[in-house]
Amino acid sequence: MNLNEIANQLVAPRVGIMAADRPSPAFYDLMRSEGIPTDEHAYRNWSELLFLAPGLSESISGIIMTDEQTRLRDSRGESLIEQVVERGMIPGISPSKGMVALAGSDGETVGSGLDGLRERLAEYADMGVGFSKWRAAFQIGPGTPSYYAIEANAYVMAQVAALSQEAGIVPIVEPEVMLWGDHTIERCFAVTEWVLSRTFETLYLHRVNLEGTLVKASMVLSGYQCAEQADVETVAEQTVKVFRRGIPAAIPGIVFLSGGQSDYQATAHLNAMNANYEMPWKLSFSYARALQREPMAIWANRPEKVSAAQAALLHRAKMNGLASLGLWTKELEGEAVAP
Ligand code: 13P
Repeated sequence: MNLNEIANQLVAPRVGIMAADRPSPAFYDLMRSEGIPTDEHAYRNWSELLFLAPGLSESISGIIMTDEQTRLRDSRGESLIEQVVERGMIPGISPSKGMVALAGSDGETVGSGLDGLRERLAEYADMGVGFSKWRAAFQIGPGTPSYYAIEANAYVMAQVAALSQEAGIVPIVEPEVMLWGDHTIERCFAVTEWVLSRTFETLYLHRVNLEGTLVKASMVLSGYQCAEQADVETVAEQTVKVFRRGIPAAIPGIVFLSGGQSDYQATAHLNAMNANYEMPWKLSFSYARALQREPMAIWANRPEKVSAAQAALLHRAKMNGLASLGLWTKELEGEAVAP
């Protein structure tokens, strides 16, 4: 498949992406913070639960993995990535080596891991990886994000995108404007517009093929701590408006991160955009927390809860698949599997 075909398959009707790329140290930290007992196999078992959920490919087109997950074998000793491919899903890679402080900035960050990336991407392509994801995180605050941080992150995202395409891998460029803060939805709109405009200018400079690129975007939302919270219709309207200004129609699809929204909000917002607006790109999902929060609570590292946790995952994936077509309704949530 060429880059455009892979990108189109990832945003085909009724499907979206599952972001499962939480590195194992962060995964174990999360388990401990949730009071879930851990053991040395928990990361493998959790990855297996997610990747091999029966029927997952009906709603999930691709799975974003860590380097560690691309090399994992399941409890029977079989390669997880090979089973993902056999089930008709496209494996993706998060090749970042983590966020580091941006030198000279006021607490802003940039992703690290450009060194040796060409060679690593070639290896991933040989393993069957079809796409990459690289995140930039912009915190809205007094004086942030800075022009410096936006430029530095745009440069790194564009280099990763160009290197991915050289390896035959579709880049997902993820400039996330974070939800945390007491900013208004208007401020979120202005920052998102600025970030998108600088990101696409830089992708052009780095000769990135837009037809073979996807964008992973945050929604235009009121800050989590803002006293006045925008309703679903306003979020949908403002998000579509900023994308129309900042994202070229040549991009095949935009997939959302959930960013700390509740499962239900993430689905409702996606649905409202697809139900009410004509757009030149597919609008779908690439959720981590909004797909996995409930399955994790059900599972809690208990083997006897694997099937119930997988059922909860399938339910959320299906709801979001319907939202990617504007066909979700609140009533459909009634089918949810109880913990
Ligand atoms: P959330 O959906 O939990 O925000 O994660 C998406 C993601 O992959 C961030 O890079």
